[in-house]
Amino acid sequence: MRANVNQMISEETPDEEVLLTSLRAGEWDEFCGQDEIKEALQIGTHAALERGEALDHTLFYGPPGLGKTTLSHLIAKEMNANIKVTSGTVLTKSGDLAAILTSLEPRDVLFIDEIHRLPKVVEETLYSAMEDYALDLVIGKGPAAKTVRIDLPPFTLVGATTKFGALTGPFRDRFGLTYRLTYYPAEKLQAIVRRAGQKLQIALDAQSALRIARRGRGTPRIALKLLKRVRDFAQVKHDGAITPEITDQALDLLRVDKLGLTEADRFLLQTMVSKFDGGPVGLTTLAAATSEDESTIEEVIEPYLIQIGFIQKTPKGRVATAGAIAHLRQSRE
Ligand SMILES: Nc1ncnc2c1ncn2[C@@H]1O[C@H](COP(=O)(O)OP(=O)(O)OP(=O)(O)O)[C@@H](O)[C@H]1O
Ligand SMILES: [Mg+2]
Repeated sequence: MRANVNQMISEETPDEEVLLTSLRAGEWDEFCGQDEIKEALQIGTHAALERGEALDHTLFYGPPGLGKTTLSHLIAKEMNANIKVTSGTVLTKSGDLAAILTSLEPRDVLFIDEIHRLPKVVEETLYSAMEDYALDLVIGKGPAAKTVRIDLPPFTLVGATTKFGALTGPFRDRFGLTYRLTYYPAEKLQAIVRRAGQKLQIALDAQSALRIARRGRGTPRIALKLLKRVRDFAQVKHDGAITPEITDQALDLLRVDKLGLTEADRFLLQTMVSKFDGGPVGLTTLAAATSEDESTIEEVIEPYLIQIGFIQKTPKGRVATAGAIAHLRQSRE
């Protein structure tokens, strides 16, 4: 059972994140932006701590890289509790869930990433765990089967998803706190980039940080990755000093344009314009035409393009707007 639990959970971050872990906001005051969510969570954790209770179950949703995982860690820290991290793609059996739940201590946080991918049976096992802090396990099979109820310590389930709509109503209702993370304005990203620069001992002026922020697609993870690429460029091509001009050169080399759009973004828009007359075009057709996964388009590429008004979703499909067409024309010039 133990080994099993360890496979299902990890207190480590996945590979792609390793680069960024040194930058993970470890304290509330290092977490910039999303002020309303921050305040609500600070009040919630404070109140729960004073009452000696676990924080209500919490659901974060929104595009990738906006801080869902970071916030879950901050909650655990605030609650002086442990955090166990797993994901909807790994947690495929109710037995595995039971093993994790029974290993929790009071007020611990169980973080389930990609919670919309949990199989139905696991989701249903979670219902009583969330509502009554109890697990109803069926032992045996057929007429001899018995249900055994196991009490659990009060814990907080923190779920994260890029696809809120994919969660069932009964599941959503069981979260006492639900927050939608939104893209960060450039000034907040600039503050995040500057703080990261200090941590990594990169000399970075305000203007360079702002240029990185503007091309960060409203997303801390992306802005932090760009910062690292700019640092590499400055180190190899110059003497390590980062200036606004060097920042622009480095970002141009990465083919990240002034709005933060990447090749993948521009290719999607270009395909909509050249193959479908700007749309409307359905998701499946668009995925086939661009050789991208439907879920990558829907959960990763498209949300930002919708946010900046380059794609509109209509009942008949996606439409590339006049703004998108003008931007494509400009970037070709
Ligand atoms: N508000 C913030 N202030 C400072 N750093 C942040 C903030 N939000 C995110 N970060 C940093 O950005 C990176 C990505 O954040 P995180 O892993 O929490 O995003 P996520 O929403 O969980 O993404 P995904 O949906 O892909 O799992 C981390 O390095 C984190 O420290
Ligand atoms: Mg995450």
